[in-house]
Amino acid sequence: MNSGKVSKSNWTDEIATLKAQKNAVIMAHYYQTGDIQDIADYVGDSLALAQWAARTDADIIVLCGVHFMGETAKILSPEKKVLVPDLAAGCSLADSCPADKFEEFVRSHPDYTVISYVNTTAAVKALTDVVVTSTNAKQIVDSFPPDAKLIFGPDRNLGNYINAVTGRKMLLWDGACHVHEQFSVEKIVALKQQYPDAEVLAHPECKSAVLALADYVGSTAALLKYSIRSSKQTFIVATESGILHEMQKQSPTKTFIPAPPNDSTCACNECSFMRLNTIEKLYDCLRNESPEIVVDSEVAAKAVRPIRRMLELSDQLGL
Ligand code: 13P
Ligand code: SF4
Repeated sequence: MNSGKVSKSNWTDEIATLKAQKNAVIMAHYYQTGDIQDIADYVGDSLALAQWAARTDADIIVLCGVHFMGETAKILSPEKKVLVPDLAAGCSLADSCPADKFEEFVRSHPDYTVISYVNTTAAVKALTDVVVTSTNAKQIVDSFPPDAKLIFGPDRNLGNYINAVTGRKMLLWDGACHVHEQFSVEKIVALKQQYPDAEVLAHPECKSAVLALADYVGSTAALLKYSIRSSKQTFIVATESGILHEMQKQSPTKTFIPAPPNDSTCACNECSFMRLNTIEKLYDCLRNESPEIVVDSEVAAKAVRPIRRMLELSDQLGL
């Protein structure tokens, strides 16, 4: 089935009706397009999405984000139906860490604790001791003794950043996100010259040369909070450009400039996977209750432990 005769202007009403009929809730990541963020019941970063998915009493969760976010929601709420508008919405970072290769790496370091970024498949989480997001990675790493032997995967940029701010020497998996890897240092420097009062806000998935230019480094939610409380008027934002929607909404008089990619011929600061979801597909998936996230029960039984451990630690840390 497709969205048939429903016109774009009616989607808001139609989606609201379907949500009420089906006791469904819509959760969206900040990297979704503005129309999806505006229609969602909850908009947040990866940690917030996992926390909401664990707590909701809805029967259906429509997770407007990428596949690993849907998997995390399903693992935390297996009795609920978890839908993602486009199942092909993957993640280059998660793809950079195949479970079989990661298992070899983990097995070759048997006395190490395994910390995995949430941007991983359920199969990688099943090999993990504790999951982290960019909001809680530093605090969770800090919760281990200073001499603990730690593996961190899959993002080498986030891992390098956490090593630098905690003074650790965690063993890193060599993965990266195709969006955050390609911000241009030269173009950010040029923008800084053009807007000398602007602050650079960067996500820790960016390369260290970009982070070195940043006035503030944090998760999407942390960058948003910083942009609200900062007295500055202009911000150069080095993360997926979807976050600018909420930044601009929260601070209508401030100016937000997306950090440019190396390749000026592409919209490479947009995540091609995140952007597979559209409002039309959101409507269709809620109406058809498909496509649905399915996680193998044995994998889920192993993956739920490190995710729950992250949620417990985050609660203790007040995150
Ligand atoms: P956060 O939502 O944790 O900031 O992560 C960003 C991201 O890359 C999601 O894919
Ligand atoms: Fe994955 Fe990067 Fe897209 Fe985030 S922005 S979902 S890390 S590919």
